[in-house]
Amino acid sequence: MRTEFLKACKGEKTEYTPIWIMRQAGRYLPEYHTVRSKGTFLELCKSPDRAAEVTLQPVDILGVDAAILFSDILVPLEKMGAPLEFQEKRGPVFPNPIRDQAAVNALGIPDPEEDLGYVMETIRILRKELADKVPLIGFSGAPFTLATYLIEGGSSKNYLTTKRMMYEAPELYSQLLDKITECTIVYLKGQAAAGAQALQIFDSWVGVLAPCDYREFARPYVERIIKALKEVTDIPLIYFANNGATLLDQTRECGADVLGFDWRIELDEAVRRVGPNISIQGNMDPLALFLPEDKLEARVRRVLEQAKGARGHIFNLGHGIVPEASPAKAKLLVDLVHRISREMRG
Ligand code: CP3
Repeated sequence: MRTEFLKACKGEKTEYTPIWIMRQAGRYLPEYHTVRSKGTFLELCKSPDRAAEVTLQPVDILGVDAAILFSDILVPLEKMGAPLEFQEKRGPVFPNPIRDQAAVNALGIPDPEEDLGYVMETIRILRKELADKVPLIGFSGAPFTLATYLIEGGSSKNYLTTKRMMYEAPELYSQLLDKITECTIVYLKGQAAAGAQALQIFDSWVGVLAPCDYREFARPYVERIIKALKEVTDIPLIYFANNGATLLDQTRECGADVLGFDWRIELDEAVRRVGPNISIQGNMDPLALFLPEDKLEARVRRVLEQAKGARGHIFNLGHGIVPEASPAKAKLLVDLVHRISREMRG
């Protein structure tokens, strides 16, 4: 198995900089569409053989250094008792948003094997299939990000309903977040037990919070998850706070082995501010994949140069690859990262 990814997470020396790509299994790949066309997105998540198949696609097609489980951060919320739909134009929708005490009380904590067995089964299949290839990353959403979907009933522009609950009904908000946190701890422990070799926590929308609100309404729950996992496993934990440059002084205290960064921060500044005990992941603008080849190469070189002082660096995009991206360009990116980072070491 190629172990550069795990080594970089732990801050060990690597021969080259490992790369994986957020949303690497997805709609920019024609091979994904072939499998996806057989049913809905949720059906795909719940079919271990097919979910494993699309997980492997970017490993074989692009040559990335880690696989990420094919699923969605919202899948466990459905099993808490909040029906979930993915609508073709709107994306995820929760038709019964969680906004009052009765709704919070009604939420349960799913058992990973009983209720989310298809995720655990996908992980077990993947570990067999990946044995001589690359490590497998499991994942969850972070409690704030997950809560926004439950409270808003789907995606949101300004998070009005979420922030109103935070400010007007803080007790209700904290009860909801406690339940999501408990669910996430059990779910991630289940993934680790099933064989995930690293875990990423996606805090996709946390950048909308003022630093003082992050401290009160988001950070404690992330810290609780990381602490609970550290008690049972030493696999690397990656925390990705999207649009989180303003939160860095706090996110570096959350206990993660790796912090993920989006492109809105200069990576050398991130390296300086996280210090010597945390590895970094990121941070090329996903749309930089539309640069012509020579400019893409220069951009890759820039990211690698900026990451030089880091304890460990895992190359990634600053957010998910977009469906319009070209698979050939994504493959070129992987090859550039490998070649240039080897040259820089030599
Ligand atoms: O390759 C991988 O990264 C693994 C699979 C994965 C998906 N979603 C598949 C997916 C992962 C890790 C996610 C995480 C996820 N899901 C996040 C966090 C990462 C981020 O982008 O910030 C979030 C916020 C979601 C919620 C979600 N899922 C939305 C908003 C949408 C619709 C909009 C969109 O980007 O497609 C989804 C659907 C989704 N999740 C698709 C895929 C491949 C597209 C579904 C389809 O095939 O129609």
